[in-house]
Amino acid sequence: MSHRQLSGHGLRVGFDGRSVLDGADLTVPRGGRMALLGANGSGKTTLLRTLSGAVRPSAGEVRVDGVGVDYGRAGLRAHRQVVQLVAQNPDDQLFAADVFRDISFGPLNLGLSEAEVQERVDHALAVLSIEDLAERPIHELSFGQRKRVAIAGALAMRPCVLLLDEPTAGLDPQGVDELVAALEALLADHTTVVVATHEVDFALWWADTAAVLVDGRVHCGEPSELLSDAALVAAARLRRPIVHQVADALGMAASGITEVGSLVAALRGRE
Ligand SMILES: Nc1ncnc2c1ncn2[C@@H]1O[C@H](COP(=O)(O)OP(=O)(O)O)[C@@H](O)[C@H]1O
Ligand SMILES: [Mg+2]
Repeated sequence: MSHRQLSGHGLRVGFDGRSVLDGADLTVPRGGRMALLGANGSGKTTLLRTLSGAVRPSAGEVRVDGVGVDYGRAGLRAHRQVVQLVAQNPDDQLFAADVFRDISFGPLNLGLSEAEVQERVDHALAVLSIEDLAERPIHELSFGQRKRVAIAGALAMRPCVLLLDEPTAGLDPQGVDELVAALEALLADHTTVVVATHEVDFALWWADTAAVLVDGRVHCGEPSELLSDAALVAAARLRRPIVHQVADALGMAASGITEVGSLVAALRGRE
């Protein structure tokens, strides 16, 4: 799949006169893994919905390869083939009786042949490692399984950019491992992945770019650098990553420390 560049420029979105995005700029690195970080209510879901075309900004522009989104029917249809959003709650997204029917709904709506729909569904099931669920009724599935079916449904649209809203929320540790494995498969499949989360430890470990929402604007950068900025982390109402807290307690510079392994390596270097 070709990499397309998704970006937001000066995005403004408000509800009931209250501003949520207030001039947000964001460029999603092609083929990369981006974490969108912010406290509850900071506007993560609103920003993802704006990037997906579901919310139209009152000012500013969402662009793909430098071209602004056309909010007409055909334009949004084209945008959805580039950018897909997976909602935080799978039950907001899944509606068909069984897994196959749910995942095939989008491709069928594109008017693809039966063979191509089957091929897309098989591929999405394989990437998410849920081939065994194909015939199962949705209501029989666990929360983690429903989350993966929702991701498979988005993937079957063959987006260049997949936006995932709090994909780890509500998952147990094994569910998180399975999700991360699925994200790796998506990245290997040349899909750009954006994950909205307030989990700084996950973001530091997983992402290669972080976007932190503060007062309706976005600060982008290398995760370890951004998250070692105590003032920014406090302004975003986030917690400092645990490895950074430990590094601080040990009197070490936290920037560059992304996981326990690099903390241990930095300690060894000081021996
Ligand atoms: N459809 C909506 N109508 C009214 N207010 C909304 C709507 N969507 C979001 N908001 C408000 O916008 C703010 C940001 O919400 P949201 O984007 O869901 O934040 P986050 O995902 O970071 O928790 C919140 O104050 C929320 O109540
Ligand atoms: Mg949200």
